[in-house]
Amino acid sequence: MDTSKLKIIIEGKTKIIYENPSDKDTVFMVFKDDITAGDGVKHDTIEGKALVDWQTNRDIFDYLNRCGVRTHYVSSPEEKVSIVKKLERKINLEVVSRRVATGSILKWGTGISEGDLYDPVITQFHYKDDPLHDPMLDESYIEFMICEKNAREYSEARRINAEVFEHLERAFARFGVQLIDMKLEYGIIKDDVYLIDEITGGSFRLWPFKVENPDMKQDNVLSELDPAGRLDKDTYRMGGDLDTVKDKFAAIAAITAKFKNL
Ligand SMILES: Nc1ncnc2c1ncn2[C@@H]1O[C@H](COP(=O)(O)OP(=O)(O)OP(=O)(O)O)[C@@H](O)[C@H]1O
Ligand SMILES: [Mg+2]
Repeated sequence: MDTSKLKIIIEGKTKIIYENPSDKDTVFMVFKDDITAGDGVKHDTIEGKALVDWQTNRDIFDYLNRCGVRTHYVSSPEEKVSIVKKLERKINLEVVSRRVATGSILKWGTGISEGDLYDPVITQFHYKDDPLHDPMLDESYIEFMICEKNAREYSEARRINAEVFEHLERAFARFGVQLIDMKLEYGIIKDDVYLIDEITGGSFRLWPFKVENPDMKQDNVLSELDPAGRLDKDTYRMGGDLDTVKDKFAAIAAITAKFKNL
């Protein structure tokens, strides 16, 4: 596809969105080789990352669509290009679901250790704003918006996020890896709340099982998992070299390629 003649709607850190001249209801989402962390402060390009992310994203969204999740994803007609339903309005939230405690949640207070299990998963809302570092929203505010204001973006995003988490957790577990936590985005399309954007190695944490059949019913599951073998963007955040980061992302794509058979 020659994108040079297409109108750019928005260019972000990892993707460019182009108008689709033959269909006003969809747009082209084109992946870039860029990788960022720390709200864009750390930034590199990794040749070939766009292709790997495009594959991962395609296989995950195809799987979620087959599971009946309401997503913006339509198809991936050629390498690095996907067709998605055009957003009417972006919801400025990052919606995080967690099964296992790690990362920022460990810094927030007492009584949490790495590996603590959340069952059911917990879901948190962050206001999307890089300069403010995506602050977490107060739970009583969310409840007020849902109960008093009937704000469907919160109730639907929370419901879909937990549903997606469980679908992906089950799928990854088939291949010996645990979905630890996950951050997704939502938007309004034809007056409904849709899962939008991308799901790639930067969207979640994935740790291999340490044992074949981990006991995930304990209060703390760290002994069942292998965080050092992580497959996700933490490798980049922690200063891993770019070839290693690419290998990890390729390993994710190799797993999600097998979602076709689920
Ligand atoms: N279905 C869609 N229709 C139109 N725009 C979309 C759709 N899905 C995602 N986008 C937008 O594509 C843009 C580019 O994505 P990218 O992830 O590269 O941005 P970003 O720089 O990471 O910014 P952000 O912090 O908003 O993710 C984002 O503004 C995102 O909201
Ligand atoms: Mg983004």
